[in-house]
Amino acid sequence: ITEEGNKDKKLLKICQYLHDTIPYYNWVGFYFAQQETKTLHLGPYVGAPTDHTVIPFGKGICGQVAESNRNFVVPDVKAQDNYIACSLTVKSEIVVPLFVNGVNIGQIDIDSHVIDPFTDQDERFLEFVNEQVAQLFE
Ligand code: SME
Repeated sequence: ITEEGNKDKKLLKICQYLHDTIPYYNWVGFYFAQQETKTLHLGPYVGAPTDHTVIPFGKGICGQVAESNRNFVVPDVKAQDNYIACSLTVKSEIVVPLFVNGVNIGQIDIDSHVIDPFTDQDERFLEFVNEQVAQLFE
């Protein structure tokens, strides 16, 4: 097995675990930045398939996090402009950047079917998850 395939397998397991463990984590996936083209590319994910496998920096919640390097919590996607809808069942979203040696290389993206489920605890937890994920890239 290749190093890359191995990493994707681990990332998929993390998505699966988060999706299966936390009832309001209904779509869990990773996007990775390509600096040359200023685009995000969908990596391993669990949940409904999405058309948005490539997202330009600046577009949608994900694209904004690629530029801001900051967590983005959207309690109600209907109230958000510059949001890319993946499915009508999605009501809220959280995106937390993934830093490797201080560089924002991508993000974990979570969609929920309920309104306003994400707390500070989710942010701290997902920052911790991403710190573990970062070690796969060091
Ligand atoms: N809603 C995201 C797009 C990705 S999907 O949630 C999987 C956004 O606005 O960037």
